[in-house]
Amino acid sequence: MSIKVLGISTSPRASSNSDLLLQQALAGAESAGAETEYIGLRDLNIAPCIECNSCYKKGVCCVEDDYQMLSSKMLEADRLIFATPIFFMTVCAQAKALIDRCQCLWAHKYVLKQPLQTIGRDRRAMVIAVGGTKSKKMFDSVRLTAKYFLDVLEMNYAANLFVNKIDEPGQVKKHPSAMEEAFRLGRELAATDAPPPEKPVNVELT
Ligand SMILES: Cc1cc2nc3c(=O)[nH]c(=O)nc-3n(C[C@H](O)[C@H](O)[C@H](O)COP(=O)(O)O)c2cc1C
Repeated sequence: MSIKVLGISTSPRASSNSDLLLQQALAGAESAGAETEYIGLRDLNIAPCIECNSCYKKGVCCVEDDYQMLSSKMLEADRLIFATPIFFMTVCAQAKALIDRCQCLWAHKYVLKQPLQTIGRDRRAMVIAVGGTKSKKMFDSVRLTAKYFLDVLEMNYAANLFVNKIDEPGQVKKHPSAMEEAFRLGRELAATDAPPPEKPVNVELT
């Protein structure tokens, strides 16, 4: 049975660079025999967490929108590829809204102490981020947020693809290696013959 790879694109714009890399990574995963699904947050309605803490009692989110559908898909997937532009040195607001809504999974696990249905499965994730400039700490915040997000989802943090100095829509297509690296990392992510890495494979390109 083929593994399921879910790609989530969070950029709000058309011809998004992080989106283009995500599509390449999904193509790479498909080339390894995976079944892939692409979801663009710009087509969905995911409100921010309202911190009502009702999830502390039931382990589910009381804000009803597209989060419930997406949460099921994230829990069902064997692999996740999460793509974001860098906005003010971190993930974009659309990405952060989704991440914050996963607080109900955190409550499920750590407040109610109930295991997620995913426990024991080989689940892995890769993060793609693109920034318009180059700065030493550009991806630090993404790394840290992704670590906690993926812990809540019970996914091994397998890889990063970070690309600097890409600002115009679609510009990443002209990068000498980013598109190929996305394909390669997507293909690697879909592999099941190697154990998950102990720390994320980190590819940072300029
Ligand atoms: C609101 C906003 C904030 C941004 N903040 C940063 C930043 O902190 N550092 C940076 O290098 N680029 C920043 N950028 C530029 C984007 O990261 C860059 O254009 C990137 O290619 C966008 O990715 P996308 O095409 O996938 O949306 C910002 C752009 C916007 C619109």
